[in-house]
Amino acid sequence: MAHSDIRALEDRYGAHNYAPMDVTLVHGEGIHVWDDEGRCLLDLMSAYSAVSHGHCHPRIVHVAQEQMARLSVTSRAYHNEWLGPFLERVCTLTGMDRALPMNSGAEAVETAIKAARKWAYRHKGLADNQAQIIVMDGNFHGRTTTIVSFSSESSYREGFGPLTPGFISVAYGDIQALSQAMGPQIAAVLVEPMQGEAGIRLPPTGWLHDVEALCRQHNVLLLVDEIQTGLGRTGRVLACEHEGVHPDGLMLGKALGGGLLPVSMFLAREDLMDVFGPGEHGSTFGGNPLAARVGLEALNVMIEENLPINASRQGGRLLEALRRLHHPALKEVRGIGLFIGMEFDPAYASAREFCHYLLEAGALSKDTHGTVARICPPLVIDDSGVQEAIDCITQALHRLPKLPVKL
Ligand SMILES: Cc1ncc(COP(=O)(O)O)c(C=O)c1O
Repeated sequence: MAHSDIRALEDRYGAHNYAPMDVTLVHGEGIHVWDDEGRCLLDLMSAYSAVSHGHCHPRIVHVAQEQMARLSVTSRAYHNEWLGPFLERVCTLTGMDRALPMNSGAEAVETAIKAARKWAYRHKGLADNQAQIIVMDGNFHGRTTTIVSFSSESSYREGFGPLTPGFISVAYGDIQALSQAMGPQIAAVLVEPMQGEAGIRLPPTGWLHDVEALCRQHNVLLLVDEIQTGLGRTGRVLACEHEGVHPDGLMLGKALGGGLLPVSMFLAREDLMDVFGPGEHGSTFGGNPLAARVGLEALNVMIEENLPINASRQGGRLLEALRRLHHPALKEVRGIGLFIGMEFDPAYASAREFCHYLLEAGALSKDTHGTVARICPPLVIDDSGVQEAIDCITQALHRLPKLPVKL
């Protein structure tokens, strides 16, 4: 089907809730994808970390194909042979006691919110319906009605009311603001160790460590959303390891599906997870044998192929090279591991324009919030991939105006 016909179909029959880049992808392998005209492109997006293992990783594809032909979906009405091994692996890797499998990231976050509220009523003695959860300005935890209720982005929220109460938002990275918000009604603090959707924002060094200390002091749960930062992206299995932080509740998603399936997880210490009894939470597809086997293989590949170490090494090289690129439109390059953002001065160009030129130069990225381009390739990237990234980014930068075009 012709390029234009494919788009026309999407446009005619789809909801207009996305504004995709002008390219149709048909094939992927490792750090590369191919479009419908046969052009090979370097993937600097990794589907928001969902493709951290690279496209169509042969080991993960192999187990998926084998399992698909054997048994895919059973529901949790029965046991299946892969769920136990998957849960054991993810708990030992993260140091958590128990895990509850879901599908999308938003579902894992919803699970955390439900668990934290119930824990507060059962273990902290809060009066029914009074629990509050502190969240951070600029957060992104998904798109359900409860989650958008505490988004600081008005377009995510407006028109979708009535919004869910029970959340207090404070400035990200500001320990004083968090300290002031702590009170007897607080059940939990929900954080991203680094904010992805907000524009690859890193909090001040030591902040997460201080957040943990405050939580301990007030008997408040620390819930860490590592759906985007987890599983090697920042150079460690979990980003909170950079500060030696051990959360009470942890959310994983995206890369947990090995780039093939939606697989997410809420992990917790025992007394937190134990608030759920039979029938009190669940998901038809969560923990199905196909997802569990793919998730288990995704974790094994991440460890056996040293993806966190590779992310740290190649991310360090990439970050250093990008920081050496000077262009008046480029305000800042920031990040950790292979979680990198390039921030543009809107007076010269938008990040969207940069991404457009990057696509012409042969690489895929996407802007977030208009000013930041994500540079987050699959964690399997090697030296030549990093060089290819630098070359494409350099070419795209050359196309940007060197004088302000907007006042
Ligand atoms: C930190 C974080 N949490 C939650 C989500 C929601 O995940 P999903 O889109 O799979 O529901 C995202 C998605 O980008 C995310 O970045």
